[in-house]
Amino acid sequence: MKNYAVDAEKLENFTQRLFRTAGLSDADASAVAELLVHADLRNVRSHGVLRVAPYLDKIEHGGASLRSTYPVVHETPVSAVIDAEGGLGAVAGTKAVKIAREKAQKAGMALVAVRNGNHFGMAGHWAMKLAGEDCIGFACSTTDLTMGAPGSREPFLGNNPFAFAVKAGDKYPEFCVDMATSTVAMGKCKDLAKRGKAIPSGWMLDKDGNDTTDLSKCYMMTTMAGHKGFGIALVVELFSTFLAGGVLSPDINNQDLPDVPELSSQAFGCIRISAFRDLTEFQKSAEEYIDRLHKLPMREGMPAARYPGEIEYGNKQINRREGVVLPETLVRDLIEIGAKHGVDGSFLKQRETDRQ
Ligand SMILES: NC(=O)c1ccc[n+]([C@@H]2O[C@H](COP(=O)([O-])OP(=O)(O)OC[C@H]3O[C@@H](n4cnc5c(N)ncnc54)[C@H](O)[C@@H]3O)[C@@H](O)[C@H]2O)c1
Repeated sequence: MKNYAVDAEKLENFTQRLFRTAGLSDADASAVAELLVHADLRNVRSHGVLRVAPYLDKIEHGGASLRSTYPVVHETPVSAVIDAEGGLGAVAGTKAVKIAREKAQKAGMALVAVRNGNHFGMAGHWAMKLAGEDCIGFACSTTDLTMGAPGSREPFLGNNPFAFAVKAGDKYPEFCVDMATSTVAMGKCKDLAKRGKAIPSGWMLDKDGNDTTDLSKCYMMTTMAGHKGFGIALVVELFSTFLAGGVLSPDINNQDLPDVPELSSQAFGCIRISAFRDLTEFQKSAEEYIDRLHKLPMREGMPAARYPGEIEYGNKQINRREGVVLPETLVRDLIEIGAKHGVDGSFLKQRETDRQ
């Protein structure tokens, strides 16, 4: 299959215009476009412009409301609760980040919880925005049903993602732990199946709760590290659903349904480092820590140890320079969507690439 290398800035501009013509304000359309293209820049492709079609579908069919005003329904100097009223995850996220950062600048730390939301994309995007230059950022979300309790036969919660980020000095600006709480993301199973490769045992469960390597029999995903991943997914629930007063996970809607909101909950945390110690000192020790990590002796044939977010940060540098890699099928779909909305996408097909 052919791949194309696409200039990230042009891709973001194109995506912004698509959402603009779908009825979003300039600022809201920019928030969505930035979120999606950021994921592609980091090669988190499952959360990139692949989501343009389902997001637009959801807007068109009423599952993502353009009427929401994202009201703050509860507030203290260190906390806030936003009701997304079934609006867009990127818009609620942008508002939550702004409030959390402002409160953390004044009070030292803050947590903003969101209820009645929709898919908020790559958790790391929000954690990094919350972190900025001077804070530790934290973001998490519930999502539609994909996992059960250890040993159970029915799904009970989603593979609730979470991310922590911090600028660890100028050398390491994007330290970012960002993951789903399932053993692997569903996208990885689909990708292996598409390429005719075997899906390892231990990733998926069938209708009876037994291990399966057959994608067509997959009913649930296994939790990351067994009971521990289950526990962490519940911690995400605590910070998001329970603090926001949101919809309990077993009652969340499937995110692919175009006409109803997912009704997921999110949390956005921000800790100002200077509330604890001198920021420069913090960043100096974080840099030294990662320098030492990089020097760890490795087993024969293994690459140097890396910090969380390092691979994705490297991808971002390459993709900014050489373009974001999009498969031909996606490029075709985007051009078609563009034509429907009167936005020219011919630039997407300008440069074929051997990069994968
Ligand atoms: N919004 C939602 O509903 C939703 C749901 C699930 C997942 N997601 C997103 O999907 C994305 C992918 O999640 P995932 O669980 O597949 O992530 P992953 O397994 O690819 O990566 C998890 C973490 O491990 C780090 N990492 C990977 N290899 C490493 C290595 N060799 N050394 C050190 N660190 C390493 C990565 O930097 C990352 O921080 C995330 O951005 C997540 O937020 C979103």
